[in-house]
Amino acid sequence: MAVGSLTRKHPARLAKRSSPRGCDLPQIAVVGLGYWGPNLVRNFHAQPGCRLKTCCDVDARRLDAVHADYPAIGLCADAGEILADPQITAVVIATPVATHFPLAKAALLAGKSVLIEKPLTANVAQAEELVALADERGLTLMVDHTFIYSPAVARIKQLVDSGELGELLFIDSVRINLGLIQPDVNVVWDLAPHDLSIVDHLLGRLPRSVSAFGAAHAGRGQEDVAYLNLDFGDGLIANFHVNWLSPVKLRYTRLGGSRKSVVYNDLETAEKIKVYDSGVDVRGDDPDSRRQRLVDYRTGDVWSPHLSREEPLARVAEQFIECLTRGVRPPSDGQAGLRIVRVLDAAQRSLRARGARVEL
Ligand SMILES: NC(=O)c1ccc[n+]([C@@H]2O[C@H](COP(=O)([O-])OP(=O)(O)OC[C@H]3O[C@@H](n4cnc5c(N)ncnc54)[C@H](O)[C@@H]3O)[C@@H](O)[C@H]2O)c1
Repeated sequence: MAVGSLTRKHPARLAKRSSPRGCDLPQIAVVGLGYWGPNLVRNFHAQPGCRLKTCCDVDARRLDAVHADYPAIGLCADAGEILADPQITAVVIATPVATHFPLAKAALLAGKSVLIEKPLTANVAQAEELVALADERGLTLMVDHTFIYSPAVARIKQLVDSGELGELLFIDSVRINLGLIQPDVNVVWDLAPHDLSIVDHLLGRLPRSVSAFGAAHAGRGQEDVAYLNLDFGDGLIANFHVNWLSPVKLRYTRLGGSRKSVVYNDLETAEKIKVYDSGVDVRGDDPDSRRQRLVDYRTGDVWSPHLSREEPLARVAEQFIECLTRGVRPPSDGQAGLRIVRVLDAAQRSLRARGARVEL
């Protein structure tokens, strides 16, 4: 699957290329084996282009669970052991958000490339420091913005880039369910990175401003329901609804264009994307006179493109290995991670100011 530019050279220190015997494959460690970490373990273990050498978690039960499935992988409870291992060239970090910065910084200082879970860090200053550190040392810093590696988002990007949708007018996204309430972040920092990274990937630019409104019902002082409004300028506006308290699970994104529109339902198995050749054409010589304007409704075909069934996380693992071995820069590099953290930070400030518009 072609996602983003894989051709730009990155000054990453290249790991040794793979050999037929596999002895020169980059050696990787995964830190954090809670809910998401085992998915990374499964995908990196399945990749022929690397060797998953060690898994780490401070919780012995998590180590036992991984050991039961992968008895040949080394285990440790202290990430310091991984950083001290000269054979390990890259670390995959899937720990709670508050620990992202210290773990990633230590890994980069130890000369290891990093694939880190979303969001890159808990604030902008931390993200800037990691990006600078990776660049200084010529190491890869990649963020697991999983959805941009999905066949559905890759297909939507083709539709946007080819101009088939026309000028984008609005984006509307709903990501709600009875969610896994995170201990250290609110629902915006947990769920919105998915939607923000999809839109960042499609548009390649930051919004001009953000306003966010939310409420905390679960008694922790952290918002569990929130609505974000983004203004991208040129008439393009976006709305994201993220919610951990919804009795139903919805994963909907709608992109309205001047020519065609797309509805992306990530919960659909057969027809995740539908393209609607419908919209509104306004005609009339005098824009001030509503009577003279003619509104044409176009209701054309609806079609659903074929999508491969590739698991996005397999593509994430493949992409990270390409960064290590070929020096490509991933579409979800540290800069992309930083852009998302900037929007999250603006949304956070707006939440505190009860929905005030925050410029970026
Ligand atoms: N990309 C996605 O779709 C996706 C989905 C879910 C979660 N995530 C991200 O993954 C990360 C982890 O989320 P989770 O839901 O798996 O959390 P979790 O709490 O279930 O798991 C985190 C694990 O990290 C371990 N840990 C904490 N500090 C550690 C340290 N210093 N050294 C070693 N192990 C340590 C904990 O013991 C725990 O097992 C978060 O950043 C989250 O945003 C991403």
